[in-house]
Amino acid sequence: MSRPELQAPPEIYYGDVEAKKYTNNSRVQQIQADMTYRALELLNLPPGDPALLLDIGCGSGLSGEILDEQGYTWVGVDVAPSMLEVALEREVEGDLFLQDIGQGFGFRPGSFDGAISISVIQWLLNAETSHPTSSPPHRLMRFFTTLHAALRNPSRAVLQFYPTSDDQVQLITSIAQKAGFGGGVVVDYPNSKKARKVYLCLFVGGGGGAQQVPKGLEDEAEEGEARAQFEKRRERLKKRQISGKRKNVKGKDWILRKKELYRQRGKDNVPNDSKYTGRKRKAVF
Ligand SMILES: C[S@@+](CC[C@H](N)C(=O)[O-])C[C@H]1O[C@@H](n2cnc3c(N)ncnc32)[C@H](O)[C@@H]1O
Repeated sequence: MSRPELQAPPEIYYGDVEAKKYTNNSRVQQIQADMTYRALELLNLPPGDPALLLDIGCGSGLSGEILDEQGYTWVGVDVAPSMLEVALEREVEGDLFLQDIGQGFGFRPGSFDGAISISVIQWLLNAETSHPTSSPPHRLMRFFTTLHAALRNPSRAVLQFYPTSDDQVQLITSIAQKAGFGGGVVVDYPNSKKARKVYLCLFVGGGGGAQQVPKGLEDEAEEGEARAQFEKRRERLKKRQISGKRKNVKGKDWILRKKELYRQRGKDNVPNDSKYTGRKRKAVF
C-alpha cells in the first residue's frame, strides 16, 4: 500500500472512518508518542518552565496528549475536520484550529515558545492537494515564513516527517533556510529500515542553547531495541520534568482550566467551582 499522502488530499484521506481507525490503532499511538517524546527532547526547552507550543498537523491529538502529559500549553492546527472532531471527543486540552498549513499561519509574531510537527509536512510535498493552484514550493515557503514569524526569538521547531528521497529533504531544508531558519536535519537510526526517523530541527535566532544541530541516535537498533531505548528516554524526560519542578498539572488551577474548557465546548453537567477543591457544591436549602 502506498503512503497516505500519495492517495488523496489529507482532509479526504482522514475522513470519519480513517480518523477513528488511525486514532484507535495501538501501534500508531505508540509510534506517534515515541516521536513526540523525541521531538520534545530535540526542542530542548528549559526544564520546568511553562511554554506555549504549536502542534502543526495535530490530527486527533495523539501528539498533543503527550504535550498535555508533559504539562505544556498548546495550540493545534489541522486541515482534516474529522481528525479535529476525534480530538474534541478525546477532550485534549489544546485549542484547536481548522487550517491548511500550506496557506500559512496568521498568529501574532513571537506567539510560541516552540513548535512540533509529527508525520505531517510530507503532505506539503504532494502536488495532488485540494489546492491545485499552489505548487509545493510555494506552499512550503508560506508555511515556513509564517511559522518563523509565529515563533519567539530564540526558539526551535522540530518537524518529524517521511521523505521519500534525499531531494525532498534538500528541497524542504533549503526553503526553511530561505524563510530565515537555522538548524538542519537529524536522522535517528539511519541504518535501520524500521526505526529510521527524520527530524527537521529548526532554529529561530540561535535556537536556544547550543547552536549546533543535535546528533541523531546512532545505533542500528532493530525495533525491539529501539523500543527499549525509547522507554529509557521517556523515563529520563519524565524525571527531568519532575526535577525541574514543573507546576503540578493536576492542581486546582488545572481543574478550573479544564472545567472552563468543557463549559466553552458546551459540555453538560460540568460541576460548579468550589473554593478549595473545584468539586460540585451541595445545594443547601
Ligand atoms: C499522520 S497524521 C499525524 C497527526 C498527529 N500529529 C499525530 O501525531 O497523531 C497527519 C496529519 O497531518 C494533517 N495534515 C496534512 N496536511 C495538512 C495541511 N496542509 N494542513 C494542516 N494539516 C495537515 C492531516 O490532516 C493529519 O491529521
